[in-house]
Amino acid sequence: DWTMRNYAEEAIKQIREKVGDGKVLLALSGGVDSSVACALLSKAVGNQLTCVFVDHGFMRKNEGDEVEQAFKDWDVNFIRVNAADRFIGKLEGVSDPETKRKTIGEEFIRVFEEEAKKIGKVDFLVQGTIYPDVIESGTGDAAVIKSHHNVGGLPDYVDFKEIIEPLRLLFKDEVRKLGTELGLSDVLVWRQPFPGPGLAIRIIGEITREKLATLQDADYIFREEIANAGLDRSINQYFAVLTNMRSVGVMGDDRTYDYTLALRGVTTSDFMTADFARIPYDVLEKASVRIVNEVKNINRICYDITSKPPATIEWE
Ligand code: XMP
Repeated sequence: DWTMRNYAEEAIKQIREKVGDGKVLLALSGGVDSSVACALLSKAVGNQLTCVFVDHGFMRKNEGDEVEQAFKDWDVNFIRVNAADRFIGKLEGVSDPETKRKTIGEEFIRVFEEEAKKIGKVDFLVQGTIYPDVIESGTGDAAVIKSHHNVGGLPDYVDFKEIIEPLRLLFKDEVRKLGTELGLSDVLVWRQPFPGPGLAIRIIGEITREKLATLQDADYIFREEIANAGLDRSINQYFAVLTNMRSVGVMGDDRTYDYTLALRGVTTSDFMTADFARIPYDVLEKASVRIVNEVKNINRICYDITSKPPATIEWE
């Protein structure tokens, strides 16, 4: 009979046979897939595995530390590269969405490549490809709506013999089950999808450190209120977007002229199409009141009521 425990044991056995005493390298993004792949490889080959976590600085509030913390007690060589300054420097003056994505994607490869060089020759490179990715990449002629920076690319830049894709046959819910089976923390197993370029594509227009901090704080409050309302596992993706628009408001006796924040929540089964989530008004109200009171530079909040299509889930 097929259980996740059997699957895990079988996968670990196969990985051990394949890897032998070879060296394994994995790029950890902090997302569910790469985290579960990391846990699985760690169980299979222990410290023959090196995980490189490139922190580009556009993670959600506290997220970089959460990822590091989650893998502290695992028997892997864990390398966190704090590259925030490099990334934000590269993006100075950049406001076009595709240019942002390309810039971040290229810089990511450069940082990863530098780390890989320090490690020296590796035998295997792990990729957290899951079954839906396998199907999607089969349709080569699909129009590129947005360039996804974590698909393709990497293998050319690292010297290795072979790729291991241990999640290739699994759907997302199975990947989560496997993660739990392996003892990975809920923070990682139940993490909602997050784009490779991170908050950089949720700040419309040019990115500044101040805007980034504003968005991190606002997004954190929104997520907290969604969790307080018990909606965090039923809404598939929810986040805040810092628009590039300012409007007039009033605080006490003073006129304000500050940014508008957009909140987004969607329900979807495959992220190819999505419906905007019917979040109860009182939950939206709590989030709105808290954000305007607790976060600087925001005086107006909108909820995005478009579905996909015609809108995409992300704003850039
Ligand atoms: P869109 O905005 O195209 O997003 O409707 C669909 C899903 O993909 C995620 N997304 C990305 N994921 N790298 C990723 O790994 C990316 O560059 C990227 N861009 C968008 C998005 O968050 C949503 O879940």
